[in-house]
Amino acid sequence: MRRLSAWMRYPRGDVTLTRTKIWMGTGNEHKYQEAKQVLAEYGIELERMDIERVEIQADEPEEIAEYSLQVLDSDKPLLIEDAGLYIDKYGGFPGPYSSYALERLGNMGILKLLEGDADREASYLSAIAYRDGETTATFRGEVKGEIAHEERGTGGFGYDPIFIPAEGDGRTFGEMSGEEKTKISHRARAFRQLGEWLVKQ
Ligand code: IMP
Repeated sequence: MRRLSAWMRYPRGDVTLTRTKIWMGTGNEHKYQEAKQVLAEYGIELERMDIERVEIQADEPEEIAEYSLQVLDSDKPLLIEDAGLYIDKYGGFPGPYSSYALERLGNMGILKLLEGDADREASYLSAIAYRDGETTATFRGEVKGEIAHEERGTGGFGYDPIFIPAEGDGRTFGEMSGEEKTKISHRARAFRQLGEWLVKQ
């Protein structure tokens, strides 16, 4: 296996820290900031490559992330993340159509779909496809929860004001601090796997 190509050396007095630097292809600053925070726990520096990625229609987020990465021409150590909200009652909808549904229906539209419904179980999934030279790897993170009855909170982004994680205290992700969300989020779980894997390389 090829070693990571971007080992950076930062002289700090007589101490030399060795850090790994990788890139995330995303047009979403929120996703980038959350991912950056998690990878920093592993001493990995994350840079953002501001791109409009090519997204195919597929059931599994891994497949979508892998394709988006495959068609990106770059020799940097690079990752693509695909994430979405999966509502059990609707067979996982919006899932791979999450950004389209958010754009067209918004959180109010999702709440309307579930109006008067007791079955509100849902989960967020995050899949990361990573490439460094010849090495490729895929990781998945999940958080289970339910859809709130109304929008709550202004934190996070996207569906966060209507998603209540099961491992929380009843607040939506939108009502939590970034640090609280990162303890249990789908994205943090996927990025921790990537971090653990990278430090073992
Ligand atoms: P994508 O991975 O950029 O395709 O994201 C799909 C959609 O899911 C976007 O509309 C995001 O706003 C939404 N989404 C993904 N992750 C999160 C999250 O952590 N919180 C809220 N919305 C999310």
